[in-house]
Amino acid sequence: MTIESSTQAAYLVAALLFILALAALSKHETAKAGNNYGIAGMAIALLATIALAIDRGIDAIGLILLGIAMVVGGAIGLWRARVVEMTGMPELIAILHSFVGLAAVLVGWSGYLQVEGGSDPIEVAHLISQGTLGIHHAEVFIGVFIGAVTFTGSIVAFGKLSGRMNTNPMVLPGKNLLNIGALVAFVALTVWFCISPTIWLLIAVTIVALALGWHLVASIGGGDMPVVVSMLNSYSGWAAAASGFLLENDLLIITGALVGSSGAYLSYIMCRAMNRSFISVIAGGFGIEAGPSQDTDYGDHREVSAEQVAELLRSAKSVIITPGYGMAVAQAQYGVAELTRKLRDNGTTVRFGIHPVAGRLPGHMNVLLAEAKVPYDVVLEMDEINNDFTDIDVVLVIGANDTVNPAAETDPSSPIAGMPVLRVWNANDVIIFKRSMASGYAGVQNPLFFRENSAMLFGDAKDRVEDILKAL
Ligand code: TAP
Repeated sequence: MTIESSTQAAYLVAALLFILALAALSKHETAKAGNNYGIAGMAIALLATIALAIDRGIDAIGLILLGIAMVVGGAIGLWRARVVEMTGMPELIAILHSFVGLAAVLVGWSGYLQVEGGSDPIEVAHLISQGTLGIHHAEVFIGVFIGAVTFTGSIVAFGKLSGRMNTNPMVLPGKNLLNIGALVAFVALTVWFCISPTIWLLIAVTIVALALGWHLVASIGGGDMPVVVSMLNSYSGWAAAASGFLLENDLLIITGALVGSSGAYLSYIMCRAMNRSFISVIAGGFGIEAGPSQDTDYGDHREVSAEQVAELLRSAKSVIITPGYGMAVAQAQYGVAELTRKLRDNGTTVRFGIHPVAGRLPGHMNVLLAEAKVPYDVVLEMDEINNDFTDIDVVLVIGANDTVNPAAETDPSSPIAGMPVLRVWNANDVIIFKRSMASGYAGVQNPLFFRENSAMLFGDAKDRVEDILKAL
């Protein structure tokens, strides 16, 4: 068996492992095994690719560069993965997507310089003899376009998620026309490039795509960012697949298509969960207008102490806890788990209501609660619990804000209008744990805080939960 054919066999095994990984990652119980399948697939793919490069006669300098790139990249990857906080995962994912986008741009440019630029006459002769030179032009152009959109889009997503950029949607005059104009320009330039592949056209499409990626994501408001991250995940997959075509690497095509389609499907599921139009989000907030100014006066809020909350909980028969991003920041899940045990021992029914986008990544709250050993059967999805709030004595909103904002249902001009939310305000008493009156991730004021049955328990969520535990 030649190295060439062994590599193809190894690629097939790696592709199957990636498919198994995706299937296993979709369930709690098999997620760890899914990760292992993915690691094994990637290790096989890397080894096979190096073997192929050696077989095809890579020179010593090339091999040294490959080694350095792998060691440096692997070390940075390991270090980041070890130190990243769970709350920082989305921004880490966003910046990793930007690397995939940049790689696709560089692969596209290198393909151009090799073939259209004429630096590799053997490859040019090969493509001409196969009659696929025109296809090569299209692959270069499309790969660079998708890669550049993914690159700048992911950088903006990273900036917004990490708080380095304003999360409000950027509203340029005629923003939809700008997006459509960029797409029309891309189609026209692609046709032109296939007829006459000059470097200026490639420079032009790179600039248009970089600007489009930036604008698409900058136009999207904070509340829609989860969808954007999974959408960029999808784009990065298509960018990798485009590179796979250029490099004639089947595994890269398969892996790219897997990432591209699963990311697109996840975006679609999230859009459905948040009652957002998939098309409007991928088109950069197409049709979504800017929200009203945030100076509505909702009246005064009421404050309570941890001791008063403990008193309320002592007499409560039923309690629902709705955790959010603040619980993750404060690492309050262990105290919350302890509180749950205490209340249940006291005969109180305690359940959790989990919003699909609570926190900063899908399943964020479920993972934290599982980590703190809260029993699975009391942790319910929003749809399973949303009609029950009317019969509940006390709701503890622990570090959640956008996901419990009634404006989503009552104010059609709100940036989060139409997003399903946990109807906590229907309970008898609502206690909101947060440090100030600041708005949540979407930057929208929350009228819940000013309702008659609401009271604010200010301070770090972990400290306040511990105060309640002491008082109990
Ligand atoms: P948010 O709306 O982000 O609100 C979190 C609240 O926690 C803030 O109002 C903050 O108020 C409070 N907080 C922060 N640190 C705290 C601490 N140490 N102790 C107590 N409170 C603290 O949270 P949410 O309701 O979970 O909503 C999630 C938001 O993130 C949505 O807009 C969603 O679209 C977006 N998002 C979600 C995802 C996914 S996939 N889940 C990904 C990206 C973005 P103070 O500052 O006053 O304390």
